[in-house]
Amino acid sequence: MTMRIDVLTLFPEMFESPLSHSILKRAQQQGIVEIVLSNIREFAADAYRKVDDKPYGGGPGMVMMCPPVFACAEHVRSLRPQPGRLILLTPQGAPLTQAKAIELSREPRLILVAGRYEGFDERIREGLDAEELSIGDYVLSGGELAAMVVIDAVVRLLDGALGDEDSAANDSFGDGLLEYPHYTRPEEFRGMRVPQILLSGDHGRIAQWRLEQSLQRTQQRRPDLYAAWLARRQATNKTLKKDKNQEIET
Ligand code: ADE
Repeated sequence: MTMRIDVLTLFPEMFESPLSHSILKRAQQQGIVEIVLSNIREFAADAYRKVDDKPYGGGPGMVMMCPPVFACAEHVRSLRPQPGRLILLTPQGAPLTQAKAIELSREPRLILVAGRYEGFDERIREGLDAEELSIGDYVLSGGELAAMVVIDAVVRLLDGALGDEDSAANDSFGDGLLEYPHYTRPEEFRGMRVPQILLSGDHGRIAQWRLEQSLQRTQQRRPDLYAAWLARRQATNKTLKKDKNQEIET
């Protein structure tokens, strides 16, 4: 089934280029995903098309107002039978991880809301039953780039979005580890040689080498991921052992 992604934004034009190249373009052309942009400003009730206002209690910046965001979200929700998971892009959201991208790729419908200014009126979160996602611990000037990152990470996981040769199976983070190093022709470049083992044709030893490289890289660059991988492996080894003992007992 075609996944549907709605994007609610004040700047739909920002999405045009990323959505019209490479994998995202192909996935839309092939009917794997349908991505629909809606301009929140078109749902502003007043003649000035106002979408933001000063914060109650004072302070700098402007806050996205409830009425246009609610009107836009409710309109978009009514276009399909599935309400869809509605996600606000904010630096306070749950972190976008590969596991989260995989989870989202299994949804029939996502509604991504990109905000500008200082943030959203708090009642948007409550009243629209919204989740929040962050793409990292830094502050962007708006949620648009974050929404594009979510779209890219999710769509490439959909069945048929990647050709065989760029399969997502070996992605970094897929098994909680960083990817092994890659090489292509020429065999030697400015004195740097491709590791001999990759030229050996011995698929078993190549797989073993790649796993070792993945582990080494992860340990060096992302000790947090490495520790989590070790803990998971210990836990599965324990349950495997337990299952075996039970098998023997019964
Ligand atoms: N909007 C501003 N900063 C953001 C971030 N880090 N992630 C998601 N949305 C954002």
